[in-house]
Amino acid sequence: MRKKIVAGNWKMNTLPAEGVALAQEVVAKRGEVCECVNFIVCPPFTHLAQVAEALKGSTVELGAQNCAAEAKGAYTGEVAASMIAALGCKYVILGHSERRQYYGETSETLNKKMEQAYANGLTPIYCVGENLEEREAGNHFAVCKAQIEEVVFNLTEEQFKNLVIAYEPVWAIGTGKTATAEQAQEIHAYIREVLASKFGAAAQECPILYGGSCKPSNAAEIFAKEDVDGGLIGGAALKAEDFIAIGKGFMA
Ligand code: PGA
Repeated sequence: MRKKIVAGNWKMNTLPAEGVALAQEVVAKRGEVCECVNFIVCPPFTHLAQVAEALKGSTVELGAQNCAAEAKGAYTGEVAASMIAALGCKYVILGHSERRQYYGETSETLNKKMEQAYANGLTPIYCVGENLEEREAGNHFAVCKAQIEEVVFNLTEEQFKNLVIAYEPVWAIGTGKTATAEQAQEIHAYIREVLASKFGAAAQECPILYGGSCKPSNAAEIFAKEDVDGGLIGGAALKAEDFIAIGKGFMA
């Protein structure tokens, strides 16, 4: 049985007090959903410590949205994986399309970030996905395959056991346009096949999340698909009620 995960990517939203209030609300409502669903919240760096405090004693877990490619030293403005781990993070989102697109993150950088994550006991949530042009040209399979081969294929078998993949078509992120459940299943199954070509049976255990305008009204249909193991949620994660309602999608 693969882990079921609903992870909230808060992006650059909420001030510390708002983040704490949101986390408290998620904790308060978490009981409405089966314990079999794992909830993760990923606030901005600046309030990881306060949100960690708010999550204490609950089963809601903490993640960061990024980490540095280097361990420590003269890298002004960067935040090391060891620092976020020390604040209680269990997960780190890596390779989000916004990082690839706006901050020029390449597979080379991401390989280093993955190493830092594992060296500090973090589970990466590694994002892949094509943009609209690539989808329209029918290149979405090739794009996802390359993003996996160039980074995930460098992991050891041990590291691979501690990996979450998020498939996020760029054209669906923050646009209100969601992939259909069939489109999601098609590419999730393909991604699992690519993973299996390198890691064999272990690919069956790797959670693959869908991300891109996932909301309470479409979560159940998408999560019902065999190879969809949950969601990476942006906008809808900023309202505790919606975030939890997405988790209920597994129970529908
Ligand atoms: P969205 O973002 O749910 O707002 O589309 C998802 C993501 O980028 O992780």
